[in-house]
Amino acid sequence: MTDVLLKTEAIYKEFSGVPVLKGIDLEIVRGEVLGIIGENGAGKSTLMKILGGIYTPTSGQISFEGRPVTIREPSDAKKLGISLIPQEFNLVKDLTVYDNIFLGSEIRQRNGLLDKKTMMARTKSLLEELEVTIRPDERIDRLSAAEKQMVEISKAVAMDAKLLIMDEPTTVLTQYEIDILYRLMHRLKRQGVTIIYISHKLKEVKAICDRVMVLRDGEVICLEPIDKLSIYQMAERMVGRELSQIFPKKERAGTEPVLTVQNLTVPGVLENISFELNKGEILGLAGLVGAGRTEVAETIMGIRKHTAGEIILNGARLEIASPEDAVAAGISYLSEDRQGSGILTGFNVVDNITLVSLRAYCDYAIDLINSKRQRAAAQQHVERFNIKTQGLDTRLEFLSGGNQQKVSLAKSIDPQPIVLIADEPTRGVDVSAKQEIYRFIKSLADMGLSCLFISSEQEEIVGMCHRVLVMKEGRMMGVLSGDEISEAEIMFLATGVRETETLHE
Ligand SMILES: Nc1ncnc2c1ncn2[C@@H]1O[C@H](COP(=O)(O)OP(=O)(O)OP(=O)(O)O)[C@@H](O)[C@H]1O
Ligand SMILES: [Mg+2]
Repeated sequence: MTDVLLKTEAIYKEFSGVPVLKGIDLEIVRGEVLGIIGENGAGKSTLMKILGGIYTPTSGQISFEGRPVTIREPSDAKKLGISLIPQEFNLVKDLTVYDNIFLGSEIRQRNGLLDKKTMMARTKSLLEELEVTIRPDERIDRLSAAEKQMVEISKAVAMDAKLLIMDEPTTVLTQYEIDILYRLMHRLKRQGVTIIYISHKLKEVKAICDRVMVLRDGEVICLEPIDKLSIYQMAERMVGRELSQIFPKKERAGTEPVLTVQNLTVPGVLENISFELNKGEILGLAGLVGAGRTEVAETIMGIRKHTAGEIILNGARLEIASPEDAVAAGISYLSEDRQGSGILTGFNVVDNITLVSLRAYCDYAIDLINSKRQRAAAQQHVERFNIKTQGLDTRLEFLSGGNQQKVSLAKSIDPQPIVLIADEPTRGVDVSAKQEIYRFIKSLADMGLSCLFISSEQEEIVGMCHRVLVMKEGRMMGVLSGDEISEAEIMFLATGVRETETLHE
């Protein structure tokens, strides 16, 4: 007989009358790693939040270790030994790392005062176990997205959970940290911890899960041992139809330069970066962690100051001091940090999409925002990107992670830029949404938009880009074009095994 740790029966959940989970029956076996996959908005995070006590189900029953349980709030889940690493960070920004890890379960001295020393020391050893070099007394808002995620993971591990739920833990992690996470998961599994693992990276799911469950529109489509399904079959079950070619066919790009970057230098960060981005071209920026890809974007956008070099747009030299200047000049930026600077979760869909282009919706004569035009534009984006939302006035915090990403993309193209810098544009979106985003960027390029495409997924760089600039440690290692573009070639350059000769001509 299998040892069932957790069982859900007919879990049903609706938000304001809209059903999101439609009767979930699930048995999780002790010690397994269960993968859960499904399209954006399928209900994955909602189900996990129910197990974590953040939401209560509209109806249905949960049993844990053979006994029926009621999980009304996070502390109930904690008592049972269920630990949830949420998709969106749940850390208190102006507290330290150790404060966050022990939040709600602080260690106290005999006299009742907080035992800072012990908490610091425990945090230190937890972080060491995860091989991350973060100081226990560092403030959360000074950490990178990947570091924040590692703190979330430490926090969950610190609880000695029986069931550890990870909701897309790797979207913001680099390969280095992903490897650490895998090692940790293996170790926890050996210790008998049961893990639920949610991800849109199907290769990951295939590699580390024992079984996989596919959710579609709030229903369980299948639950199978991982060897029973190929990656392609997983993708098909998610979307419920056969998948066509993921990447659109590449057309020829124009040859007239739109954006020219010459000898761009930021001391200690970027060294002599030069490239031309042509009309209608998709130019990839590839490299490993710390290669300086995002830094190139941030320098062009005026977020970082360069000490040497020039940025020229359509023949005119730009003086960009801030992102507003860049947007006004016609350069738009889709940031990799969705929660940090991409969107405002407390604002609704319309306000987010039209945030940077608000001026375009002002009627100058009366200096008022024309909300009818603003809404019409937002509606168009919602349809074009197939954004799953209850309405235009829904606040972003109520959208699923992938749908927030689509809003972020809509926001960056709403000002109708000449150049779009897309930094990890498909982070956290499902396979069919990826396909939509690729088609969309390509159709903009066909209409003459130039795109700087930054991605850590080599596959999409190869599938989408006309040329690829590969960087390492703030320097250019080479430029690949046409048939030269392959994952292997990119890796050779990114790791420094090879530099292209063209650079030294
Ligand atoms: N608090 C809420 N209020 C209203 N609707 C909600 C709320 N939370 C989630 N939803 C809706 O429930 C649906 C499922 O969302 P959920 O976050 O579970 O999706 P998901 O499968 O995790 O998707 P993703 O892959 O994009 O993270 C979505 O349509 C979402 O808009
Ligand atoms: Mg989710």
